[in-house]
Amino acid sequence: MSLNTSDIRADFPIFRRKINNNPLIYFDNAATTQKPRQVIESIKNFYENHNANVHRAIHTLSQEATELHENARGKIAQFINSKSSEEIIFSRGTTEAINLIAYSWGLKNLKKNDEILISEMEHHSNIVPWELISKRKECIVNYARVNNDGTLNFEDFKNKISKKTKIVSISHVSNVVGIVNEIKKIGKIAHENNSLILVDGAQSVPHMKVDVRDLDIDFLAFSGHKMLGPTGIGALYCKKEHYENMDPFQGGGEMIKEVNFNMKTQKSECVWNEPPWKFEAGTPNICGSIGLMEAVKYLNQIGMDKVWNHEKKLTKYTFDRLQECKKITIHGSLDVSLKCGIIPFSFQGLSSHDVALFADNFGIMIRSGYHCAQPLHQVFNLKSSARVSFYIYNTLEEIDRFVEVLREIEHF
Ligand SMILES: Cc1ncc(COP(=O)(O)O)c(C=O)c1O
Repeated sequence: MSLNTSDIRADFPIFRRKINNNPLIYFDNAATTQKPRQVIESIKNFYENHNANVHRAIHTLSQEATELHENARGKIAQFINSKSSEEIIFSRGTTEAINLIAYSWGLKNLKKNDEILISEMEHHSNIVPWELISKRKECIVNYARVNNDGTLNFEDFKNKISKKTKIVSISHVSNVVGIVNEIKKIGKIAHENNSLILVDGAQSVPHMKVDVRDLDIDFLAFSGHKMLGPTGIGALYCKKEHYENMDPFQGGGEMIKEVNFNMKTQKSECVWNEPPWKFEAGTPNICGSIGLMEAVKYLNQIGMDKVWNHEKKLTKYTFDRLQECKKITIHGSLDVSLKCGIIPFSFQGLSSHDVALFADNFGIMIRSGYHCAQPLHQVFNLKSSARVSFYIYNTLEEIDRFVEVLREIEHF
């Protein structure tokens, strides 16, 4: 059974909006997704009925807020088939989750001349933390090559991994070309070399069934706002056995059990809280975790298989329809079996920003630029690209309208 987009769209208040007198067509889902009223209402309900800080007070509101917040952790753990909610660390998003591993695990475990293996297709948030850590620890960051069609060059990956590699950090799905990496295969090679594997799931967790146990990975980072949830909340899955090799990320309340002050020496001795709270300093994003729990419920109700198939259908349809536009070049593979619903393209004679502005005049939101993945654009010899990316509420009719607009640009 396919997905009922009209029922789904009715849940998203933003689709009542008109942009330049046109119905809103939102094709920038890789950047962030729209929010259903269930998520919006869960946040409103929290503030109207349960608002208090978590873990601290014994009063009713604090108990309720704590229960909601911790239930959210459990729901998110189930969503990715983690063994327990204790393996979920809340973060602000994918970026903070990757930084957490780079600092908490990296500073403690990396030594001079150790190697970190990433790839040319990474988002800046899976490049810059490793570049920063490698400078501090005098390590080397290696980049596995990407083929012309945007797939990972597996030979190069195998050549670059060795016993010196301590961590492989790689995206599950490229946010530019939408290629799905073979994480099971990559993880197996990483483990054979005694390396850990961190998966950047920013573009996979929202769109497909991701099972951390089946993939056999050590860390998974993802963002709530890319999967119907609010901004400012995300998660890091951390296999429990790695906690003992990780120092706190930030210091403050929540992450601490005791701060014993020695009045004589005027020094404090700290006892850390248990993980995952050891890695969550300060008041957490409580309404964020609750909103994300609601988003997960919403996606579960649809079923991730349906989400995935719907996006495949849209991608295939877009490839077919874009053939009518002679001035369009799609970047990366056209093999839908390797991809999810992210399509980067160039328009002959126009910059990506011009194409995006033109589309905007017709109420169509697409992304332009290099999508925080400048190295991949350099590999493709592109200054920038335009990008459409789909989600559960997008329809074939919207793609028809988009192609119509592109044809108008061609004539123009
Ligand atoms: C593959 C990938 N990794 C990481 C990020 C960063 O996500 P956030 O900005 O939510 O931390 C993004 C955002 O677009 C992404 O697409």
